[in-house]
Amino acid sequence: MEFSIKSGKSEKQRNDCVIVGVYESGKLSHSAKSIDDSSEGFLAKVLKRGDMDGKLGSTLLLQAVVGANAERVLLVGLGKQGELSEKSYRKAVIASVNALSKTGANDVASFLAEVDVLNADDKKQVAAWKVAQMVEAVNDALYRFDVMKGKKDKADKAATQGITKLEIHVAETDDNQSAKDALKQGLAVSAGVSFAKDLGNLPPNVCTPTYLAEQALAMVKTHGLTVQVLEREEMKKLGMGSFLGVAQGSAQPPKLIVLQHLQGKKDQKPVVLVGKGITFDTGGISLKPGAEMDEMKYDMCGAASVLGTFKAIAEMDLPLNVIGVIPACENMPDADAIRPGDVLTSMSGQTIEVLNTDAEGRLILCDALTYAEKFEPSAVIDIATLTGACVIALGHHASGLFSNQDRLAKELLAAGEDALDRAWHMPLWEEYQPQLDSNFADIANIGGRAGGSITAACFLSRFTKKYHWAHLDIAGTAWKSGKEKGSTGRPVPLLTQFLKHRAAKA
Ligand code: BES
Ligand code: MN
Ligand code: ZN
Repeated sequence: MEFSIKSGKSEKQRNDCVIVGVYESGKLSHSAKSIDDSSEGFLAKVLKRGDMDGKLGSTLLLQAVVGANAERVLLVGLGKQGELSEKSYRKAVIASVNALSKTGANDVASFLAEVDVLNADDKKQVAAWKVAQMVEAVNDALYRFDVMKGKKDKADKAATQGITKLEIHVAETDDNQSAKDALKQGLAVSAGVSFAKDLGNLPPNVCTPTYLAEQALAMVKTHGLTVQVLEREEMKKLGMGSFLGVAQGSAQPPKLIVLQHLQGKKDQKPVVLVGKGITFDTGGISLKPGAEMDEMKYDMCGAASVLGTFKAIAEMDLPLNVIGVIPACENMPDADAIRPGDVLTSMSGQTIEVLNTDAEGRLILCDALTYAEKFEPSAVIDIATLTGACVIALGHHASGLFSNQDRLAKELLAAGEDALDRAWHMPLWEEYQPQLDSNFADIANIGGRAGGSITAACFLSRFTKKYHWAHLDIAGTAWKSGKEKGSTGRPVPLLTQFLKHRAAKA
């Protein structure tokens, strides 16, 4: 897919298709009006006939419109004029791409970036935000995961590929250079999102801890990062008894993957991203029920979001110091696996009573979070598909956000709003901490059913006292179930936006 920024009149474009917006009750967007004028009111006539109502996301493909130079004109419904929200703008963009997916329109010009987005702050009114969002939305909609399918299926898909070239039109009065910069930024985020999606979608017999480490190492060549992979022996020396406890039930060797993107000032304290990398979560001896257990291949989506974010910031050459720490292993039942009742000693020295081996994410994260101290971080953010309880609390729309510093939480919330990849602030009050009391160790690894995502965060908070820390529970946002089953690449957009903001401030 090739993107470019253009300016010009809609009726003059000689593409396979031009995309223009129309509102409900037949109101035309600026570029639709321009075609309408040069076609003696043809668009208005079509709308009057009632073939299209301008409802958000509705589309109508017109062929050989007299007065327009393009072969086709695609009308895209924008809903009521004056009510197009940020999410609705994305929806309209996605509808436009999907409408052309089975047509011969490959070289396309879109005029949707000209529309006014309402309820948005000024930042989102400017062309740059709309351009970046369009690139991200289009790539999101066009994403396919078929590396595991047979040859025939792939050939069928290639024959009906829809758009291959998209010109994004901005008004002549818009700042062309900032639109071009926004295109680049959008492409970088998309690359990170696609990478994260691929890793999430790969089957667990392919995407093992070793595979994740290889993917990180492969980024060294293309993106100039440094990557270090710690093996079991080294982790033993560091005292990571909690992480290694989870890993001991698996035939796959655990890996601790450390990535360094050091493009900020030498003395600038880094942001550390820690991603949960359970490449398959059976629950261990506290075995999960069978239904939908395949979805536990997504339990490494925190790790995938860290790798995806590194890809994005590398492509942007983001001038910031960022470190990634990924504890990766499987959670399997085995003769050698940890049992409920086992007590593990974490790298921090705190002992942990394992009351449920299915609460394994926190057990691998706590050692990675202690390891993060050595980087003297300005902030540490962990990203994890940590609890089913978070899905119950927030559904699939918002990631759960927990933090020991309100300012950091606000920064992350704002980044999520900007990137349309939202999080919601959850409490981390001390009242919840006693739920983790253990009769036999310093802390238990579960805190009962009440507030399950909060007590999971409370567990992590015992290991993050030495720095500013936030935790994103992405159990509800990292993938979709059902017919559209697949990884979403979230929260790469949020994290990238957060880091961009930090780089701009530095
Ligand atoms: N990976 C799961 C969390 C999860 C469950 C994500 C369902 C998405 C959908 C995690 O390791 C887990 O099993 N958590 C347990 C914790 C419980 C034993 C305290 C859970 O949420 O049930
Ligand atoms: Mn689990
Ligand atoms: Zn898990």
